[in-house]
Amino acid sequence: MNTTVVTVDKEHPDRKVIERAGQILKSGGLVAFPTETVYGLGGDGLNPSSSQKIYQAKGRPSDNPLIIHIADLESLDKIVKKIPPKAQKMAEAFWPGPLTMIFEKSSLVPYETTGGLESVAVRMPSHPVAAALIKAGGGYVAAPSANTSGRPSPTQAAHVREDLEGKIDMIIDGGSVGIGLESTIVDFTEEEPVILRPGYINQEMMEAVIGQVKIDKGLLITDEKVRPKAPGMKYRHYAPRAPLTIVQGKEAETVAYINAQCEKLAEQGKKAGVIATDETREKYQASVVKSIGSRQEEEGIARHLFSILREFDEEDVEAIFSESFDTPRMGQAIMNRLLKAAGHHIIELSD
Ligand code: TXA
Ligand code: MG
Repeated sequence: MNTTVVTVDKEHPDRKVIERAGQILKSGGLVAFPTETVYGLGGDGLNPSSSQKIYQAKGRPSDNPLIIHIADLESLDKIVKKIPPKAQKMAEAFWPGPLTMIFEKSSLVPYETTGGLESVAVRMPSHPVAAALIKAGGGYVAAPSANTSGRPSPTQAAHVREDLEGKIDMIIDGGSVGIGLESTIVDFTEEEPVILRPGYINQEMMEAVIGQVKIDKGLLITDEKVRPKAPGMKYRHYAPRAPLTIVQGKEAETVAYINAQCEKLAEQGKKAGVIATDETREKYQASVVKSIGSRQEEEGIARHLFSILREFDEEDVEAIFSESFDTPRMGQAIMNRLLKAAGHHIIELSD
């Protein structure tokens, strides 16, 4: 398949491009597009065959449900059975934005989109290109992250091209995304709301709006037997080619530990890589040292995480070490992704 790649202005996307992309979606095709979190791979969420094509293009297991993206609140009524009052408040506070909520699905939503579940995940993105495309494409755009299943989510159109060029109809290049981690997912199908995936909108922000919000046990415990409730959270994810180890501790101890490990590997003729920060990059002696950004700016760390993991796949290293990023606001979201990329391999130095 020939994939058309078109560049648009993020704030004022060309109407003609959006119309053309919308036609592709309406006729059952697939279009990758930028959102404020990561790039999405869009298809018509109410068309079972579009959802099947999405699974195929990503190489994703078809029991892993898709998020339906909408552009206005009226659209929500049609795809869910009921809107709990707390979910209504969350929509008012955080939509359009990086928040996904799970509801009981209405009969309009095909099981192909929900991976066979009776519930449906819904998000209203704030990115101008995403919002315009959803409207042009019929109002209900099913979109997972636009990466090959298992790879880091794409934060630039170049990442989407790496994974999906030749497999989908169109890629809309709207530049780099703002947040860089996927949306927060909250389940509203039970009595108490539960966070299934941490993101930019954190527990504190949500609790300020609706009171207590729980965190899915499967997210915090590394025990394989405790299954996360979002089917996608159980799959190995984001993993770079070389094994990744996270090192947690004070700065000086972390640097000393990582340097010692890299030296051992060097003695065996092996190259190692380090994910450092602006504050520490000069202190490492590894073959490849990449800074994820400054510890003073946690948004930058979140935004660079997936691209730095992809960059290491281009490097000839046999092991990667990363500092730990338990930052104040987005620490939970960042560490959730980093731990998955490391297969939960973390060294905790005394503190
Ligand atoms: O920021 C985002 O959410 C991006 C952009 C494109 O919007 N999308 C995204 O989609 O991250 P995806 O498919 O990569 O991740 C969706 C997650 C998966 O872990 C999936 O299992 C979970 O949401 N999910 C979807 N529907 C669900 C449902 N009905 N119940 C529980 N989990 C669900
Ligand atoms: Mg994904």
